[in-house]
Amino acid sequence: MRVTGTGHASMRIDTAAGSILCDPWVNPAYFASWFPFPDNSLLDWDTLGQVDYLYVSHLHRDHFDAAHLKRYVSKDATVLLPEFPTSEMEDELRALGFTKFLKAPNEQVVELDGGLKIMIQALTSPTDGPIGDSSLWVEYDGVRLLNQNDARPTDLSLFAELGHVHAHLLQFSGAIWYPMVYELPQAAKTAFGKQKRDRQFDRTWRYIDDLKADHVFPIAGPPCFLDDALWQFNDIHGDEGNIFPDQSVFLAEYAKVGGTNGIVLLPGSVAEVTTSGASTTHPVPVEEFFANKVAHLEEMRERKRPIIEAEKASWRHPEVDVLGEMKRRIEPLLDESIYLAKGVGGPVRFDLVGYDGESVESIVVDFPGKEVRPYADEKVRYRFRTERALIEHLLHIGEVDWVNSLFLSCRFSAARIGQYNEFVYAFFKCLSTERLQYAEGWYDEHERAVDAEDITLDGWVVQRRCPHLKADLSRFGIVEGDQLTCQLHGWKFDMPSGRCLTSVGHKIRAHRADADTPAPAGEALS
Ligand code: FES
Repeated sequence: MRVTGTGHASMRIDTAAGSILCDPWVNPAYFASWFPFPDNSLLDWDTLGQVDYLYVSHLHRDHFDAAHLKRYVSKDATVLLPEFPTSEMEDELRALGFTKFLKAPNEQVVELDGGLKIMIQALTSPTDGPIGDSSLWVEYDGVRLLNQNDARPTDLSLFAELGHVHAHLLQFSGAIWYPMVYELPQAAKTAFGKQKRDRQFDRTWRYIDDLKADHVFPIAGPPCFLDDALWQFNDIHGDEGNIFPDQSVFLAEYAKVGGTNGIVLLPGSVAEVTTSGASTTHPVPVEEFFANKVAHLEEMRERKRPIIEAEKASWRHPEVDVLGEMKRRIEPLLDESIYLAKGVGGPVRFDLVGYDGESVESIVVDFPGKEVRPYADEKVRYRFRTERALIEHLLHIGEVDWVNSLFLSCRFSAARIGQYNEFVYAFFKCLSTERLQYAEGWYDEHERAVDAEDITLDGWVVQRRCPHLKADLSRFGIVEGDQLTCQLHGWKFDMPSGRCLTSVGHKIRAHRADADTPAPAGEALS
């Protein structure tokens, strides 16, 4: 099996029974904030795009690059489609000209022509990607590969049960706006960033240990930031709180925990994976490439500047009445929302900075009051500050997912009272009736689900499944004193009270093993 690195989470898998192109991403994403790193725009995409199958793991714009798919990927390719709750991905791909779809039944092995086997695991909670993320397992001629991508299944046993895996490709770096955009003192930001960076690596080691593949390929990040306004997010400034470590840092950190089987794929690297080993060739020596990272980024920044400027010029739509449009689009959704609105539990304020860089219009999305209105000097749960032009653009194009556009762009700052609130972001990625209904239904189901099984962990009896996204705490739970940390996403719980210390709601059921009376059962929302 041949795996060609094509940048970020993208790869081309070649076997004698057919080829699969995964997640080709070249054009900048999220308001021209993210670019693939290392640069992959100079690859021979005309050739790479002539494939038998296309797999797009999910709709995040650093995985689903509509312009590139349209221009470069053969429309004769059969799309291997994850079983997502909405038809958005299929609809978008059909609109680009794809006509052949294989709807892979979730978590079932499918045999394609010539003995090529695949299995797709789709994750479908409202917090998984833009309503859905997925991983692809491939087997041909005894060689097995898992492209886990940036998906976060609770564990990898499903794949491990299919036989020993030879190549495991997974995310290790950051892909979020936290903590950089928060209006915090620099020392606090650095401390939070460092915690996050450590947690990302811990999670990666756990997945690697779960699967015990012969070879581990760090993929799906980091992106690079080429706009001058975002340049500081590149991990080139010696900031230990930077959440975007690159593949060379991965190798160094992996070595510290005893990892010796890591393989970095640059764009154009080719790995031949067999049951007995892997040999890899690179377009330039990997160490040399990373030694020259700053020069690579600076050269790329100059080359891409016109693209960024052209994108920026398209954002302003002064004809859009932002308050009126937000009211029109968001208020009906607030009316429909029970769980998300209750979960947010307070007003969320948007401070929109005008074209002059100074004037500010403050708009509140009032979740308890179910209305969008001017800010009225009140306390708010979250405050976001961004350019008015960005919101104008989102309203102009009818964007239904502000996470997959505004928030991932990192072109905003934020402040909040209290803990992280996942419902805020879940709501702003569900700005369509279809998405909102799905998310509401999902929370409803999980609210009702009785998770009765308990386990004993370091002297505590605790519910087996994490209140966040159901990770098995017998594998992911770490107890330190009275605190339990679920290592899948790093959420913390105070066990005596059951309180979640990371996010609103999500109480855990726990009591000391030697105590008679258990604490009251947890509630999903409080
Ligand atoms: S499943 Fe996310 S922190 Fe436990």
